[in-house]
Amino acid sequence: MPKTILIAGANRGLGLEFARQYALAGENVIATCRRPAEASELRRLGVTIETLDTSTASSIEALAKKLEGESIDVLVCNAGVYGPRSEQLTDMPTEDFDLVMRTNVLGPLRLTLGFADGVARARGVMAFLSSRMGSIGTMSSASGIAYRASKAALNAVVKAASLELGKRGVRVLALHPGWVRTDMGGPQATLTPEESVAGMREVIANASALHGGFYDNTGAAIPW
Ligand SMILES: NC(=O)c1ccc[n+]([C@@H]2O[C@H](COP(=O)([O-])OP(=O)(O)OC[C@H]3O[C@@H](n4cnc5c(N)ncnc54)[C@H](OP(=O)(O)O)[C@@H]3O)[C@@H](O)[C@H]2O)c1
Repeated sequence: MPKTILIAGANRGLGLEFARQYALAGENVIATCRRPAEASELRRLGVTIETLDTSTASSIEALAKKLEGESIDVLVCNAGVYGPRSEQLTDMPTEDFDLVMRTNVLGPLRLTLGFADGVARARGVMAFLSSRMGSIGTMSSASGIAYRASKAALNAVVKAASLELGKRGVRVLALHPGWVRTDMGGPQATLTPEESVAGMREVIANASALHGGFYDNTGAAIPW
């Protein structure tokens, strides 16, 4: 029986690779993106494509309503933005900061609420693409401060979701994909999307043993 995999932000980068690998494995992939008309690579995969802008409440509500009653085995909350690039603590336009926080924190919180019933129905997994840059316990630089702050805040959302949804049989994980060659990671990154996503899929498959934690693409635990 194929599993249903819902991916937020699947038109490029790691989200597209999740869609490709889960489709290849024979799963029922619901891949979402902001502009389906431009998602030619997703169309080639033959997966179901839905419109979703994770920074907009009405967009999340509309998709949650459309998928009402579905059993969702895995929700991959992948959509994210880096925001202003800086090497040290620095001010930034308020709207730049707000966009990072809305996309990386409020969006995942709303996705959690919108799809909790669907994932609980399957006693499934919610996997959130966080980043080691959000780990306060291992922080050694102030670069990309808006992104760091947003991923640390996302980690709080993930932990809270694990406490609440764990009671309903949902397994909840924060994932660090490694440093990956995507538009965000850049060409110097050490991992290909194929390698990173293959590792994260194994971590997700092992979610029952890892519930409520923060792991990299090899399954190694990362301090919050
Ligand atoms: N690459 C790395 O080395 C790395 C390391 C640590 C963590 N991560 C995390 O992994 C996740 C994926 O990263 P990536 O490297 O694949 O990034 P990417 O290449 O920049 O792709 C980002 C994806 O997020 C989507 N997105 C952004 N804002 C959205 C919104 N409001 N609604 C819906 N989709 C939205 C983008 O869609 P559009 O095309 O519409 O913009 C795109 O599909 C992110 O959460 C990132 O923080 C990546």
